[in-house]
Amino acid sequence: MSEDVPHDDPRQTPVDGQGIQEPASQTMEGVPALPVREEPQAVTAYSSKQLKRVRDLLTRLYAVRRTARFYPMDHPATVEAVSALKDVVDRYHQEGVDVQLAFFEGELIFGDRLLAEESLLFEQLVRDMTAIGVGSLVVGRGVDLNEFSRAIAVLAADSFEVARNGGIMRMIAEANVPHIEVGTVKVFEREDVGELSPEEARETYDNALELMREIDLLINRNKSVNAGQVKTVVRSLVDNVLSNRYAMLELTGLKDYDEYTFYHSANVAILSLALGSAVTNDYRFLSSLGVGALLHDIGKMTVSLDILNKPGALTAEEWALVRQHPVYGAQQAALVPGLDKSAVVTILEHHMRFDGSGYPNRTPRRPQHLASRIVAVADAFDAMTSRRSYSAARVQDEAMTLLVQSAGTALDPALTRLFVSIMGVYPPRTVVRLEDGRTGIVIRPSESDLTRPLVRVIAQADGEMIDPFSVDLSAEGQPGIAMCLDAADLNIEVDDYI
Ligand SMILES: [Fe+2]
Repeated sequence: MSEDVPHDDPRQTPVDGQGIQEPASQTMEGVPALPVREEPQAVTAYSSKQLKRVRDLLTRLYAVRRTARFYPMDHPATVEAVSALKDVVDRYHQEGVDVQLAFFEGELIFGDRLLAEESLLFEQLVRDMTAIGVGSLVVGRGVDLNEFSRAIAVLAADSFEVARNGGIMRMIAEANVPHIEVGTVKVFEREDVGELSPEEARETYDNALELMREIDLLINRNKSVNAGQVKTVVRSLVDNVLSNRYAMLELTGLKDYDEYTFYHSANVAILSLALGSAVTNDYRFLSSLGVGALLHDIGKMTVSLDILNKPGALTAEEWALVRQHPVYGAQQAALVPGLDKSAVVTILEHHMRFDGSGYPNRTPRRPQHLASRIVAVADAFDAMTSRRSYSAARVQDEAMTLLVQSAGTALDPALTRLFVSIMGVYPPRTVVRLEDGRTGIVIRPSESDLTRPLVRVIAQADGEMIDPFSVDLSAEGQPGIAMCLDAADLNIEVDDYI
């Protein structure tokens, strides 16, 4: 093993310049099929008191299903369990809200909230409901005990009974329960999330950083990470990226030399989700992609900082240790109860390369999972644009060029191309000199020309700072970009202008 290998960044090695290949069909294989969308319904935002009561509701729902499976509906035990559940439902109704539950691929959603902890606590209930095809359940106001009881009789069925009776929707239709709605699949509607403000974007970013700091402490104390906490942070990252991609992408320009791994993790999660959401809007896929991306480097938390931040070349032993971090990370993540298994795969595979090389070695060779290929692109880009003890940060267009040159070897070519189309050749926050000499900061790429983004002009050609204003460089008559500049050299605080 050579001793002058750049630490932990195989993609900083020279690339072969073979350029981007046509997006081949293989890139889109494995993309989960989109669930069938149903008519979106108004989603309730429950009060904190109502949210707390949901455990009671779920406990009784779980209990009534069990009881109704052992006893007939008119047995006293079943009657009592039905009425106990109805009591909790009634309290919501008295407060003027319907009961809206959704069971989405291992997750429990109550109104507009994903219940991270309850998803784990009531895992069996979620599995059972999913197994009989119940994606969502709304118990509307005005339901009486008889109607409610008929619905419970249907919901207590097992998957064989449901199949025998022609599916859950048919059974619900035949039960004549006008106040109860059952949906087969619950899809989060982007409209549900609404437009999120820059403050919310920043709060989400800070929460992700805080979570990474906490995970670092836990891992170093040999304590277990809380999957519910990770999922909550990731859910908010997904929502923010879906709602306001560019506000989130701007944040990925935040770097911190001392807390590199924490900022890098948050950035890679956002970049991966931006890229992932351009491939599919399947919420389950994006959630596990987000978890894998956020935790991709947790294996580094057990590697000494002296090695990770060593300014000089690593010894062969040190390098061997660094190369173990995907394996350490996957082992740590596999031990976390309730953490998505495909996230574990992403952690393990994030330094594997598209061409099958990279590390860890796997025999027989297997293509990287789609989520791992996405994270690899995001990881490479963020690592190249960050300052490390052993390398300076590259300016964005140089990083973008290197990324494109790695397409087809280290990186998936179609995903790389998609990434460039999202970020533009000049990603958000890049400081640029325009052809007319003025200085600007890139806000977002233009849809029509990736080399001519929307820019905030901050200084005249003679260097005089001006009141910033936005210019769309793709509009006719506007200058192009002459070069990228280093914000630190110019003493520019990018945050002050965007
Ligand atoms: Fe890594």
